[in-house]
Amino acid sequence: MSTSWKDIWNEKDRINKVILDFLIKADGFDGVGAFDVEDWIKYTKYLYNLIGISSKDKVFEVGCGSGAFLFPLYLKGIDVSGIDYSNQLIDIAKKFLPENSFSVDDAADISKLEKKYDITLSHGVFFYFKNLEYAEKVFKNMVSLSKHKIAILDVCDLDKFDKYHSKRIEKFIEEGFSREEYEKKYKGLNHLFYDKNWFLDLARKYNLKANIVDQNFQNYGNSELRFNVFLEKNC
Ligand SMILES: C[S@@+](CC[C@H](N)C(=O)[O-])C[C@H]1O[C@@H](n2cnc3c(N)ncnc32)[C@H](O)[C@@H]1O
Repeated sequence: MSTSWKDIWNEKDRINKVILDFLIKADGFDGVGAFDVEDWIKYTKYLYNLIGISSKDKVFEVGCGSGAFLFPLYLKGIDVSGIDYSNQLIDIAKKFLPENSFSVDDAADISKLEKKYDITLSHGVFFYFKNLEYAEKVFKNMVSLSKHKIAILDVCDLDKFDKYHSKRIEKFIEEGFSREEYEKKYKGLNHLFYDKNWFLDLARKYNLKANIVDQNFQNYGNSELRFNVFLEKNC
């Protein structure tokens, strides 16, 4: 319990939650995909457990943005780093996470990195890719950068494609906008949807053990439209 005002203003936990809230927003988790900090902490913990991240692991994220997904790991003392093609978001990551561990890069260009990581992951990124050919290039890069595990998280599920727009429009209208405003805002901004078999085929091609689980987090509006892919190198 705090004993003075000075203790209150110095309280690390409060400040870290304020930072995390900012990172979540900077990384675009709003609208249907909005998260509050407490839910984000529970959600990321649920995914860290599914991946099986241990305290000694070195974790690298492709499309890390401002570092919202990595921040709770960083606070636990885990070695985290990443790349993103947004220099604005990488500037934020460098401010709140270890400065030298983040760089601006396109996900398809990371094959030049020399260091290897225990785990390479990518959360909420693969649906921004232009096509499956590009996505396979990134997949291959993630496999070669990883010593053990690869996790591709929050992937748009092709089986749920029909639900996608109706759910987003519903939320948009709930927030006081019209269907026309939705169509105008998102014109030409499509998401790439994936068949689970596409990942299973790649796992076979690259000799990886694969486990795919539907996203299952109650307070995340996109949960029912997404799945997570967990891969492991066969020894
Ligand atoms: C929804 S944000 C998720 C950020 C972070 N992974 C997280 O969960 O907090 C999607 C991120 O993917 C990045 N991104 C999308 N396509 C990319 C690409 N081709 N190369 C690198 N970064 C990319 C965006 O800049 C953005 O930071």
